[in-house]
Amino acid sequence: MVIDKTLIEDIKSSTNIVDVIGEVVSLNRAGRNYLGLCPFHKEKTPSFNVIEDRQFYHCFGCGKSGDVFKFLEEYRQISFQESVKVLADRLGIAVSIDVPRQVQQQNSPNQAFYDLHEDALKFYHAVLMTTKIGEAARAYLYERGMTDELLKTFQIGLSPDEPDYLYQSVSKKYDEEVLTESGLFNLSENNRIFDTFKNRIMFPLKNEFGKTIGFSGRVWTKEDIEKGQAKYKNTRATRIFNKSYELYHLDQAKPVIQKTHEVYLMEGFMDVIAAYRAGHVNAVASMGTALTPEHVNRLRKLTKKIVLTYDGDKPGQNAIAKSLELLSDFQVDIVKIPDSMDPDEYLQKTSEKALGKLLVESRISDVEFWIGQLKPANVDNLQAEIAYVEQIAKIIAKSPSVTAQNSYISKVADLLPDFDFFQVEQAVNNARLTMRNQQMAQLSAASNSAYESSASGFRGTVKLPSTPKITGLRRAENQLFHRMLNHPMILNDYRMRDDFFFQTPELEELFQILKRDGQIDTVALSVLSQEVQTAYYQVLEEILPPETNLEEVQAIEERRNHFLREQDFRKQSKQIRESSNHGDVDAAVEALQMLIAQKRDME
Ligand code: UTP
Ligand code: MN
Repeated sequence: MVIDKTLIEDIKSSTNIVDVIGEVVSLNRAGRNYLGLCPFHKEKTPSFNVIEDRQFYHCFGCGKSGDVFKFLEEYRQISFQESVKVLADRLGIAVSIDVPRQVQQQNSPNQAFYDLHEDALKFYHAVLMTTKIGEAARAYLYERGMTDELLKTFQIGLSPDEPDYLYQSVSKKYDEEVLTESGLFNLSENNRIFDTFKNRIMFPLKNEFGKTIGFSGRVWTKEDIEKGQAKYKNTRATRIFNKSYELYHLDQAKPVIQKTHEVYLMEGFMDVIAAYRAGHVNAVASMGTALTPEHVNRLRKLTKKIVLTYDGDKPGQNAIAKSLELLSDFQVDIVKIPDSMDPDEYLQKTSEKALGKLLVESRISDVEFWIGQLKPANVDNLQAEIAYVEQIAKIIAKSPSVTAQNSYISKVADLLPDFDFFQVEQAVNNARLTMRNQQMAQLSAASNSAYESSASGFRGTVKLPSTPKITGLRRAENQLFHRMLNHPMILNDYRMRDDFFFQTPELEELFQILKRDGQIDTVALSVLSQEVQTAYYQVLEEILPPETNLEEVQAIEERRNHFLREQDFRKQSKQIRESSNHGDVDAAVEALQMLIAQKRDME
């Protein structure tokens, strides 16, 4: 049977070779490539490269290389057509070729490791669910709110408090090499083999495709806890398990992540289980390591939105700060858990329903997190306040939404006794300018160096003219005009409003032309005064998100009006001062009354 060429191309371009190979080889990111132990020859140090951007693999040890089809042909010992079928199936595309029964049963060199882990999982689970000692461990788990159904769903087990029960139960079935390299057993000095895990509650760790690749065992008896043993013990690194790559529960969470477009990232296994109980299946946890770039790369393929749900305690908050650095190109929300609790503790203290609600409703943005995290311990120290404002202004300036920026600015101003909205806003404006200038300097430096290497050798950095500082009022009006200029719907709205005019004369002049022509073309602009032209270009300099809506524009106008009222207010205060200085008490009282009325209006 011949398979259509374009279909083959389609299948290839819809498949990522890193995912396919990653199913059977544990890969780590190394620069732009992925590196792992070669499945085609025996090696102890990895020399098997998967080059993602060009979608091929190459082993420097044995010289094998090829594309994703070739990999499957070699790895599974199947034909090219069969490899096409395998990938088509994976994508849910129907291609009709008949694959002989026996090759469907894949014979991966790691298969024995997977099988052994599956057997171990069943063994541990049976110990927990059916033995006397299991009963005591189950009592501990029930105490923590687990049910038999949950224990089954998460396939939780118990390793017996015996030297080698697991070994005895599986050793006849597997080669010695598989047993000793699996991580499930340790060799003692006199070559006796012992189980790695003893008397621990066992959490099976699965890869993205649901294959068991390791375990994490938790101490649960009073004696063990008192002995000061590590609370959790994980499988060591093996050819199928790498803890800085894998995420707990990813296999189950994956389809839900793709549906909800977000993933909860948590610290512990019990937290992920708590989220599940609360109705959120799209939660994963790293396994006793901080978040790694490899974790991030895996998540990147599934979603752009991460909901960090770390413990509410100090280490948890510091871990958020660290993770945010790795997640700079994601949209990140952070769940605030009260009283230093972790999600599981919160569930215990409240209810499944309350945790479910908390996970959705108690979120803050990354900027809000920094506002809290960086806040000086003592806000009465002016030096600390200034340093804080400078630091936080840079973060706020990067936020893409104007409305959000303003709410952040007022949050910061509210925290600080010596700063008001306008001072913080000024700092944000400055940060934005610095940022923009740096970006432009980088751009021009890049073009300069190209120029230098090509010709006569012009040197020195270009000084960019810095935009003059503008008031909050002017900025709001610029943004408003920007919206009218680029969104005809918004312009139409304002066209119909007789009461609206710009406070800035230059903008008002431009507004009249815009209303008349629907645009400001080059010719119309060229006949205007220099000031008006400059005002126009200042509007173009505003960096606003491309999308807008009525609420955003209304919020900008509201801000503008707020500035106008403030301006008015200042004028009148000045008038009162002057009147009373001149002894004109009547005028002063009248002005004061107006001022009080206005202030009431503003509040
Ligand atoms: P925590 O100490 O926060 O534990 O560790 P936890 O998740 O709340 O566990 P419970 O509720 O007490 O049972 C968070 C995660 O760090 C890893 C585990 O993956 C754990 O889930 N860890 C912790 C270890 O790997 N080793 C340890 O000794 C402790
Ligand atoms: Mn916990």
